[in-house]
Amino acid sequence: MKPQNAESIMAPAILVTGGAGYVGSHTVMSMLERSESVEFEIVVVDNLSNAYRSEGQKKPAPLRIIEEMTGKNIHFYELDIRDKEGLDKIFAAHNIECVIHFAALKAVGESVEKPLEYYQANISGTCTLFEVMRDHGVYKLVYSSSCTVYGEPEKLPLDESHPTGRGLASPYGRSKYFCEEIMKDLCKSDPKWVVISLRYFNPVGAHHSGRIGEDPTGIPNNLMPFIAQVAVGRLKELVVFGDDYPTIDGTGVRDYIHVEDLAEGHVKAIKLFKDPAFSGFHAINLGTGTGYSVLQVVAAFERASGRRVARRAAARRAGDVAANYADAARARRLLAWRAARGLPDMCRDAWNWQSRHPHGFRDC
Ligand code: UD1
Repeated sequence: MKPQNAESIMAPAILVTGGAGYVGSHTVMSMLERSESVEFEIVVVDNLSNAYRSEGQKKPAPLRIIEEMTGKNIHFYELDIRDKEGLDKIFAAHNIECVIHFAALKAVGESVEKPLEYYQANISGTCTLFEVMRDHGVYKLVYSSSCTVYGEPEKLPLDESHPTGRGLASPYGRSKYFCEEIMKDLCKSDPKWVVISLRYFNPVGAHHSGRIGEDPTGIPNNLMPFIAQVAVGRLKELVVFGDDYPTIDGTGVRDYIHVEDLAEGHVKAIKLFKDPAFSGFHAINLGTGTGYSVLQVVAAFERASGRRVARRAAARRAGDVAANYADAARARRLLAWRAARGLPDMCRDAWNWQSRHPHGFRDC
């Protein structure tokens, strides 16, 4: 249990679930890099299902590196968010003011094969977290959502009023949609809840230092890490999924966003909690508003890396849409946020990380 008058003696803390993962670790870095965030302690909960920890180390590699770079401490708990008792103890031990919830499974193809695992981790886990938050009187939440909730775009760019939940192609996508619906219900049930659901477009790149980045286990599912591994020689060639879409060059168009911009979006979101008039559920797109095709990304990566990226065209991937990109006006209005980094920066930083660490955090 919390000691008596805990709030008066313990520093306020932000709980980051999944904080050792790709977007989670960059967000932790972004918070600790900023002097205005020093008022908060950072508490990370992660089950390490998609994060690397070297033998003999207590903390996963990205968190250890962030501590080294910022000189600040991160409280780390290896825990699955479905462990209610464990979560309860963490909430009792820290003065948690708000939660940024990243912890989830995210491989789209795998979710089609293992729907129960995805619903268990992403929905049961999320409900358990919300129960513990409510039990401890913590009602402020930033949720890691995805543009996947929009399904097949009815119009472009996608703004937040676009219908969600229609024609979703995977259990992963549905789990993000269901969680949003659960959070809307929570907000209706009790006005104390303040939820910001950040709908990410395609996060890519790495911290500009090249010391932390994306480290997918196995063969990458997503485009940018795949290209980076071809460029560094780990993979033979990129397979381009579809060259007959009605787009600029026939390949799929997406709104790629630098992971540091995305991380800064979370920092801005937390600031909204200071406004007592801000309440209820808010979905906000985080994207640049500009779409690039697969071949445009390949060309930009070749320029940034000076390496050739071998590729061949193949059939479309099931569930892929031709094009999607964000209307990012709400983020500008509500968060005073806009993406500052362009495609050349994303490719430069992805390459910087990949070329320094061909085997990801195993090289750290
Ligand atoms: C995918 C997920 C999305 C998730 C997002 C997280 C699907 C259908 N969607 O988005 O739900 O939120 O990742 O970042 O998986 N491509 C290739 N070759 C490859 C890999 C990708 O040509 O080896 C193409 C794809 O067809 C697509 C583009 O590159 O046109 C981007 O693909 P990807 O990085 O996987 O992201 P999304 O599919 O947009």
